[in-house]
Amino acid sequence: MEESAPSEITAGSRRDFIANVVLGTGTVLGLGSLAYRFLEYLYPVIPAIKLVEVPAGKPEDIPADGVRLIQLPAGPVILEKADNEVHAFSAVCTHLGCTVQWHPEDKRFICPCHQGIYDLKGNVVSGPPPRPLQKLQVTLRDGQLFVLMNSPKGEQA
Ligand code: FES
Repeated sequence: MEESAPSEITAGSRRDFIANVVLGTGTVLGLGSLAYRFLEYLYPVIPAIKLVEVPAGKPEDIPADGVRLIQLPAGPVILEKADNEVHAFSAVCTHLGCTVQWHPEDKRFICPCHQGIYDLKGNVVSGPPPRPLQKLQVTLRDGQLFVLMNSPKGEQA
């Protein structure tokens, strides 16, 4: 009859075992956290911003074949009327966010900050702006214009 061998685990090896478990757990958690941050960087979660319809006056308020710059709670807006059709743009310069000004003599929008120039349709003519002015959806309902814009309170959809 054989007797079972005495346990090989000593106090020193038990301490090593626990230290390795703690070290291994910390390493796994640290690498997991790092991987999570890396994935978050690669695939950022951008919350959808709620769009709201903002009343923007009546079509008669805009001069025929002209432009009207209005300040709405969600930001400055350009209303342009051509051939009895109304178009809307954000009046926020796509360079660094200044409000563009209408210059009727040149039929251009000029940004006073760095002299960015846009044409009547919001396209960049010259200067540092990287993109045209943002087009906004405008609808006419019951004689009233409504512009679809980001919620002024930054609400999310
Ligand atoms: Fe408009 Fe720079 S902010 S050109």
